[in-house]
Amino acid sequence: MTQDEMKKAAAIKALEFVEDDSIVGVGTGSTVNHFIDALASKKNDIKGAVSSSEESTRRLKELGIEVYDLNSVDEIGVYVDGADEITEHMHMIKGGGAALTREKIVAAVAKTFVCICDETKLVGVLGKFPLPVEVIPMARSYVARELVKLGGDPEYRQGVVTDNGNVILDVHNLEIIDPKGLEERINGIVGVVTNGLFAHRGANVLILGTENGAKVVK
Ligand code: A5P
Repeated sequence: MTQDEMKKAAAIKALEFVEDDSIVGVGTGSTVNHFIDALASKKNDIKGAVSSSEESTRRLKELGIEVYDLNSVDEIGVYVDGADEITEHMHMIKGGGAALTREKIVAAVAKTFVCICDETKLVGVLGKFPLPVEVIPMARSYVARELVKLGGDPEYRQGVVTDNGNVILDVHNLEIIDPKGLEERINGIVGVVTNGLFAHRGANVLILGTENGAKVVK
């Protein structure tokens, strides 16, 4: 299987977690795009979706799935999203697609976070993938200096503006031994909107696409 076929296998398996008459939280990225395509087959069984990015919203609408504003929704049963890295403790790095803040908001509302990814994303220690940090534009240089003090090597993601009008710093060379502690410390820097560590709100279910098909890890 190719990496993309493994992503697709995980995405299709996630349909088993979608309940009838529910509003589904939908993440962002190439794995989630497979999930959105699969979700279209259930569009008459669900109420609709809450989306974590303009890109996913566009795709959902194109396939005829109603997209709700989060403020008009009381509860989300399941949030389905990918990850750039995930550990067996269900801590993740996300934000490779720059949608981390909205992803974290929708994930916070959902009862169950179902993470879908191919097996290459499962790691022992987070940090090989540069940690995305969403930053208010005027604070970019200040936040970068503070991230250096934490031992990281921040790089401005040139040309990228998030759906919220902010910029992204990708922090290289972090070996993240304490994901919850680092998530808090970075979020405490003035000018940071949020960072891509999902440790306080990790995944509840992991569906890994492997050479032998999709495997559910709880
Ligand atoms: C988007 O901002 C990210 O959090 C994605 O969930 C993550 O980058 C995984 O993306 P792929 O599914 O494209 O690998």
